[in-house]
Amino acid sequence: MDQLRFDGRVAIVTGAGGNPSLGRAHALLLAARGAHVVVNDIGELPAALGYPGIGSAQAVVDEIRAADGSAVADTHSVADEAGAAAIVQAAIDAFGRVDIVVNNAGVCRVVSFDDMTPADFRHTIEVNLMGTVQVCRAAWPHLKAQGYGRIVNIASGSMTGLAWQTAYAAAKGGVFSFTRALASEGVAHGIRANVVTPGALTRMVHAAQGPDSSFIAAAADGVLAPELVSPTIAVLAHEQCPVTGECIESIGGRVDRFYLARTPGFTDPAMTVETLAAHWDEVMAGAAPGISRHDESDPRQWSPRAYRPLSA
Ligand SMILES: NC(=O)c1ccc[n+]([C@@H]2O[C@H](COP(=O)([O-])OP(=O)(O)OC[C@H]3O[C@@H](n4cnc5c(N)ncnc54)[C@H](O)[C@@H]3O)[C@@H](O)[C@H]2O)c1
Repeated sequence: MDQLRFDGRVAIVTGAGGNPSLGRAHALLLAARGAHVVVNDIGELPAALGYPGIGSAQAVVDEIRAADGSAVADTHSVADEAGAAAIVQAAIDAFGRVDIVVNNAGVCRVVSFDDMTPADFRHTIEVNLMGTVQVCRAAWPHLKAQGYGRIVNIASGSMTGLAWQTAYAAAKGGVFSFTRALASEGVAHGIRANVVTPGALTRMVHAAQGPDSSFIAAAADGVLAPELVSPTIAVLAHEQCPVTGECIESIGGRVDRFYLARTPGFTDPAMTVETLAAHWDEVMAGAAPGISRHDESDPRQWSPRAYRPLSA
């Protein structure tokens, strides 16, 4: 098979300044395959988030240029409407167009529902969901006008119901549903929009899990390298992208389809409370294991870092 290339295409990858990080790996791969890339990241996160290291869009741009690739850095926040517009404008100013948007910027707080401050809940929605919406909104007129676009939005397996991630799960579930609806609107304009639920050992995971976490230990052997997720992004960002409105899970070299399902259910035109209660097993029957999952494990078994509210 010929190498899948992106020559002449312009890509935006948000939240791509971390190292190691998923966004950086995606930006490096797209650039290595010929795309001009806007590498976005706000940079150092508030210390309260506890992320180790600094996300630097410029550092990733330097890496791309050192490999003879083409990239510019952008440090606007996706959570800010004007910032999202500026990110897209950076692509237009530097490269004259935008073809690919990878909405990868995200924040994750691991904390019980009742301990999380409303401000942190809102912030999680603002970055993960509204950031994705706003960058899509800014890019959309350009994609529509040229009758072509590839959008890859990043959700998380947490959206199925991971404990201690109510805000993050809500935001990522929003990204999932938003993208499916957007994909429907994009069909008439040559725009394909898909979701990826990734998994990799990154600053975000290090921030969420303490150094003695079994997850970190299990991932330390390289099986969760961010670079193993990037081919999934590239296939969905390519001209030959085979799907739209889909959600693809990509973790450690395994790629699968993540989809909503409905059981055959129980029907009774004369439905009463008691009939329904008596037939509840039929409502639930027929769901394949793994399609609709939520985590019933006790999150206290994890080793999360201490929660520090943003406003503290
Ligand atoms: N690592 C995993 O296992 C995993 C699992 C599921 C989903 N994800 C998602 O993958 C994406 C990448 O995460 P990662 O694991 O590489 O972590 P990461 O922390 O390295 O990447 C997220 C980046 O987003 C940036 N960012 C935060 N707020 C921003 C804002 N307002 N504007 C612009 N940039 C902002 C951060 O500075 C950071 O560099 C995120 O959306 C995350 O939720 C990761």
